[in-house]
Amino acid sequence: MTSGKLISGKEVAQHNSRESCWIIVHGKVYDVTEFLDGGSKIVLKYAGKDATQEYDPIHPPDAITTNLPPQKHLGPVEPNTVEKVKIEITDEEKERQVRVSNRPHLDEILNLHDFEAIAKQVMTDKAWAYYSSAADDEITNRENHAAYHRIWFRPQVLVDVTKVDFSTKLLGHKSSMPIYITATALGKLGHPDGELNLTRAATKHGVIQMIPTLASCSFDEIVDAAQPDQVQFLQLYVNKDRSITKNIVQHAEERGIKGLFITVDAPQLGRREKDMRMKFTDDDPSAVKDTGSGGIDRSQGAARAISSFIDPGLKWDDLEWFKSITKMPLILKGIQRWEDALRAYDLGLAGVVLSNHGGRQLDFARSGIEVLVEVVTNFKAKRGISFPNEKFQLFVDGGVRRATDVLKAIALGATAVGIGRPFLYAFSSYGQEGVEKALTILRDELEMNMRLLGAQTLKDVGPDLVDTSNISAHLATIPADRLYDNNYESMRHAKLRALKDQSKL
Ligand SMILES: Cc1cc2nc3c(=O)[nH]c(=O)nc-3n(C[C@H](O)[C@H](O)[C@H](O)COP(=O)(O)O)c2cc1C
Repeated sequence: MTSGKLISGKEVAQHNSRESCWIIVHGKVYDVTEFLDGGSKIVLKYAGKDATQEYDPIHPPDAITTNLPPQKHLGPVEPNTVEKVKIEITDEEKERQVRVSNRPHLDEILNLHDFEAIAKQVMTDKAWAYYSSAADDEITNRENHAAYHRIWFRPQVLVDVTKVDFSTKLLGHKSSMPIYITATALGKLGHPDGELNLTRAATKHGVIQMIPTLASCSFDEIVDAAQPDQVQFLQLYVNKDRSITKNIVQHAEERGIKGLFITVDAPQLGRREKDMRMKFTDDDPSAVKDTGSGGIDRSQGAARAISSFIDPGLKWDDLEWFKSITKMPLILKGIQRWEDALRAYDLGLAGVVLSNHGGRQLDFARSGIEVLVEVVTNFKAKRGISFPNEKFQLFVDGGVRRATDVLKAIALGATAVGIGRPFLYAFSSYGQEGVEKALTILRDELEMNMRLLGAQTLKDVGPDLVDTSNISAHLATIPADRLYDNNYESMRHAKLRALKDQSKL
């Protein structure tokens, strides 16, 4: 069957069941029968058919060829014999396309929240569900942003701030701002160019991109799209099969990746119900009814479908092995308490990312910014070390939406902060230009806020500029002050053009 002989679409169509399941991807036929367990039930929907359209956004182009043994690559399909998968343009999709054409001009986007407001309206439901979702009741997701509201500034005045400079170095590499683009999977769900939007915008703005293991574009595509001097990091999900992980790591090092961020907060992916519900309603229930494990498996969704390879057995002892296979600096992504940060330091790693995965893992995990305060306090007390520190760098992510958030983290000892969803929303709504605009907004906000704080460089942004006395106060909500709140005129997001005309404002 692997003789290179063309296979007719008719023959492929006969292999349309759990017992024998062939699919076509980019004109080639694959036998995926043995791969239907776990997260692959969606594949059954395309059994005997051309699955390219479904496959593309959630897999790098080389995923199928690397993961399927050669004998399962059946060969090219005979052109014009494949029945076209009918893509029905639903009324909802038509309405969405109208909304896309009514996006406001980028000039009207004033802040990162605006991108989210537009993305919510112009993205497909599936992409919105995957990007915006978080674990359980999404409390940590919202707390990530809210925690910044518990830190207030103590600006200093009468400093010459004619010129301000907020450039810095991450793991020894220049960055125009103390911000990096963190790793977020499945870029093509939001835009056909996926992660390449981030690569191209990052170089224009002199910031660093962290490439996700689960990018929709292949790793090499993303590295190839970078400029020769552009710095990129890699986020790593550790595979149960360590030889696969070793290949990924060593290939990354050969391709010039400057830092390996090992994700440690995801031994199992969190329950992201928006995402799960979306996928479930999308599936044809008859196609998934016999899972062989007790009926319909509702626990799907893009996230779970792509993550079953992650090793829940990863442990501290494994870090020595990582040191033995690479010279890249090792950073743990997803540290959530000072004890673990200290352990990473004692093991000689290059740093940690204080992060709860954008609230997508353990609900009620604390925000990275809150953890930063306890990490800095305990390092001082136990090792006499202060931050920022070139030898062991602290990064923070989750909920950062304004330059004031960034500067709060810097004041408290972070080297830089990672931003995730806002860049996804920016490219889902406007492609690369959207990401560039988001970076311009952050740069302008940083410049203004440095001046208003009385800081000429990031060295001047220290703990004396912030009041963190409430950072750990997890107060329960009190009833809202409705009379006052109703009088307060809410600020507005950017709007679609057609809707704006009907607006009273
Ligand atoms: C859609 C999406 C996908 C993500 N994928 C990954 C991933 O593959 N690996 C990882 O370590 N973190 C992943 N993250 C977490 C981010 O790296 C980061 O911790 C988080 O997005 C920061 O929060 P923010 O989105 O509020 O900025 C993802 C986050 C989102 C929103």
